[in-house]
Amino acid sequence: MVEFSLPANSKVTKGISYSSKEPAKDPKKLIIYRWNPEDKKNPRLDTYEIDQSKCGPMVLDALMKIKNEIDPTLTFRRSCREGVCGSCAMNIDGVNTLACLKSMSDVKNEIKIYPLPHMRVVKDLVPDLSKAYEQLASIKPWLQREQTNGIKKNSTDEKKQSPKDREKLDGKWECVLCFCCTTSCPSYWWNGDEYLGPAVLLQAARWVEDSRDSERKERLKAINDSLKLYRCHSIMNCTRSCPKGLNPAKEIAGLKKAIVTEL
Ligand code: SF4
Ligand code: SF4
Ligand code: FES
Repeated sequence: MVEFSLPANSKVTKGISYSSKEPAKDPKKLIIYRWNPEDKKNPRLDTYEIDQSKCGPMVLDALMKIKNEIDPTLTFRRSCREGVCGSCAMNIDGVNTLACLKSMSDVKNEIKIYPLPHMRVVKDLVPDLSKAYEQLASIKPWLQREQTNGIKKNSTDEKKQSPKDREKLDGKWECVLCFCCTTSCPSYWWNGDEYLGPAVLLQAARWVEDSRDSERKERLKAINDSLKLYRCHSIMNCTRSCPKGLNPAKEIAGLKKAIVTEL
């Protein structure tokens, strides 16, 4: 019989509780995953109480308040606080989303926050996205113009696109590469070394559909692989979790269709 065991230091323990210094008018508790590779201890869940009447409305506002006023050691990524950089992705109340787009009032009780699932953790809420970025680079996410279809390589000619062709990029260009979809995909959890995952495949579709690019066929050939593409079984977790309202599962289906009809 197969016996599964986890390393002793993988067990999440109860952590420190920080309460408001003054009585809070509108208290809210946040329970946050903490792990520091340097202290060689188990991960723990710390509890912080904040006063919502003295804080912005989003979960990211609360995290910044905690970092600035209660615990400067709390580590997370963020930049734009407008849902456009994709860096504040984390698992909030059981769903992968962007902390700057998630309102605290959407969560009735305490807010539980973990890093994006099934990725190695660098520290606290910061996941290691190196593999995902390596996979992104593999689909060449940039415009390629070779000497085919009358397009001259490295030409400085204006690269025109009709409004109709431009529309084909809608639902794709808006992706902020937060990897909420990829880290909610069961196929990626089990085959992440080979399967490209929904975020990278949506990017592949974005370049396949760009009328200014001359490498459509080559791009389709490159992803026509049982592991890179066909590990998607249309489970749709990706689409449900996208904080930008995109539909990676539909884009993946579009790639499969293009492969069948064009290669
Ligand atoms: S539809 Fe495909 S990419 Fe999306 S969660 Fe399911 S298996 Fe993953
Ligand atoms: S498709 Fe949505 S969830 Fe996936 S990386 Fe792009 S913005 Fe994030
Ligand atoms: S901080 Fe940029 S998307 Fe949240």
